[in-house]
Amino acid sequence: MLRRLHSEQPESFAFTEGNLAWAEGQMTKYPEGRQASAVIPLLWRAQEQEGWLSKPAIEAVADMLGMAYIRVLEVASFYFMFQLQPVGSVAHIQICGTLSCMICGAEDLMEVCKDKIAPTPHTVSADGKFSWEEVECLGACTNAPMAQIGKDYYEDMTTEGFAQLLDDLAAGKVPAPGPMNGRFASEPLSGLTTLKDYESGKTKYNASAQLATDLGDTVKRIDGTEVPLTTPWLNDAGEVAGQEAAEKPPAAPATPKPAAKQAEEAKKAAPKAKKAEEAPQGAEEASADDLKQLKGVGPALEKKLHAAGVTSFAQIAAWGADDITEMDDKLSFKGRIERDGWVDQAKTLASGEETEFSKKVAKGGVYDED
Ligand code: FES
Repeated sequence: MLRRLHSEQPESFAFTEGNLAWAEGQMTKYPEGRQASAVIPLLWRAQEQEGWLSKPAIEAVADMLGMAYIRVLEVASFYFMFQLQPVGSVAHIQICGTLSCMICGAEDLMEVCKDKIAPTPHTVSADGKFSWEEVECLGACTNAPMAQIGKDYYEDMTTEGFAQLLDDLAAGKVPAPGPMNGRFASEPLSGLTTLKDYESGKTKYNASAQLATDLGDTVKRIDGTEVPLTTPWLNDAGEVAGQEAAEKPPAAPATPKPAAKQAEEAKKAAPKAKKAEEAPQGAEEASADDLKQLKGVGPALEKKLHAAGVTSFAQIAAWGADDITEMDDKLSFKGRIERDGWVDQAKTLASGEETEFSKKVAKGGVYDED
């Protein structure tokens, strides 16, 4: 299969604040001048956020790491784990088509995909929810036939069970991963002979399936707010432990975009700033709020909002559909304002109430102090 950039590309890509902080943290793992070593983790995070790797995403990663675009494209196009075309909004189904799975029914599973998703692989279903492909052995051969769905493995599948699984996912459910024929893990079909905690009722699923069930992120896009950012290799001053200050890695760029482009965007946002200030909520008198209390707004995005003249919850609470579209575009965070519900959050915060996320920010640990 030819692996090349998709014919239709979004205009821009930007990591969420949480994912940007995560990516910058990963870059500090490597010695000065070796930040390119972080290319796979950063590409993977971009894919976890968007579902696939667009040209702007590849370029954004290249800008962050000081790499030529072609070098990052080489990595993205070499590894099949990177999707270079849009995938289903709910899940991209990867059916193993190698020996064990093939002789145990992989072709039947692919027929289900053709029937319920799309006749050809790498094609998004009519409802936009799913896409599928055949992949090489995923290392779960004992539990053939199997598929990777989102981040987890679904094993010992039948065509009926797989069809039901797709229906459940389409209905918003996330079935527990692991064997679907009642097996605990990869023990003999005749039953466990060792490690019999499962049979005695102590655990419901095997360790992998239990963790996946506990985390609940099987088909979820990652936006960086899921777990606190941890950089245990950095000391309190943000330096790599054990390194002299002079040797510490260079500070990561604040955003993946070149400064000139940011300045241009801020300039473009200026007319909107005026409009936002004229919002009916008495915005002109409003004092600056901590906009980072809005889920989806981190330090970098807060600065952009300030540059656009948006400094209070009341201003954001007053945004209508046109305002959102315009600001979305200017902040290079297409769809994010609505997806994170900034306006509803801002209304709550402007009224003096708290949100679950603002409570977390108030407690500390979500963002480093500026
Ligand atoms: S043959 Fe399918 S997982 Fe190995």
